[in-house]
Amino acid sequence: MVSYIDLSLFGIYFFNLKKSIYLLQMESIPYDKRSGKIWFNGETVDWKDANIHILNHGLHYASCVFEGERVYDGEIFKLEEHTERLFYSAKRMGIKVPYSQDEINSACKKIVNIQKVQNGYVRPLIWRGSEMMAISAQRNKIHVAIATWEWGSYFDPQLKLKGIKLNISNWRRPAPNTIPWDTKAAGLYMICTLSKHEAEAEGFTDSLMLDHEGNIAEATGANVFFKSKNDDLHTPVPDSFLDGITRREVIKIAKSKGINVIERKIKPEEMKEFVGCFLTGTAAEVTPVSQINEYKFKVCNLISSLNDDYQKLVRKDTAA
Ligand SMILES: Cc1ncc(COP(=O)(O)O)c(C=O)c1O
Repeated sequence: MVSYIDLSLFGIYFFNLKKSIYLLQMESIPYDKRSGKIWFNGETVDWKDANIHILNHGLHYASCVFEGERVYDGEIFKLEEHTERLFYSAKRMGIKVPYSQDEINSACKKIVNIQKVQNGYVRPLIWRGSEMMAISAQRNKIHVAIATWEWGSYFDPQLKLKGIKLNISNWRRPAPNTIPWDTKAAGLYMICTLSKHEAEAEGFTDSLMLDHEGNIAEATGANVFFKSKNDDLHTPVPDSFLDGITRREVIKIAKSKGINVIERKIKPEEMKEFVGCFLTGTAAEVTPVSQINEYKFKVCNLISSLNDDYQKLVRKDTAA
């Protein structure tokens, strides 16, 4: 006899399958060909009308900062922290944002509601316009846009279960006195795309980047943690790369579980001593890593339980 539980499990399975098919179909549509609304300089415009001219300082000289936020059950996780970092990034780039943080928070919520995003991504973006087209951009107008869309897992969910594989990038994070390293300035991502493309061409999912001194820094869009044999967590000191919001949350979770978290400089050859590894990030969430070049790691219970607790947190926070 088919029980109520069987039927409801079938319902959940069917719902998830439908959602996965929808997200897969959406992935095949280029981002500029989608439909909906985008918040653009204080107005809600049609997706197709959220355009810029090709002679634009943000495009030519990377005078552009952005954020990446996740929506869980219709609410943006850690919205205020993301907006604060957006404004910090802008300030570090000498960009004066023509809105208050409260206005940007409201705009993010508004566009998520208009788009009816339940579980997805939010991309606020600030850039210099077209008034001057040279290195100096003192008179350029500052533009702000916020787009949002339904979105699933950053890494393939099947790979995520087994742990993803990383290479070690030939590109290093720049020294902290060469770039505003603690921001989400677009220019910083050039090296990430180079590294990620090289990793993918070699059959890896992502790339581990070293800092300018050869210590382990982070992945191309996520922070990294290692588990030692005695269940301590080791993670690089964020002194030349982003101290992720997820990184900080996962450290809090780990400490609340009595796990010893050690922030220190880590040399790549130390990886042979570690038994576990995972990445953290808004997009990556908590993603186990099974291999970095020749170093192998296990997807152990400690990492799975941190992942479970993070998933509970992101949904509990939104319910509060
Ligand atoms: C280069 C880089 N490092 C780390 C992170 C993780 O930061 P967060 O946890 O705030 O998303 C990100 C994502 O924003 C990133 O792009």
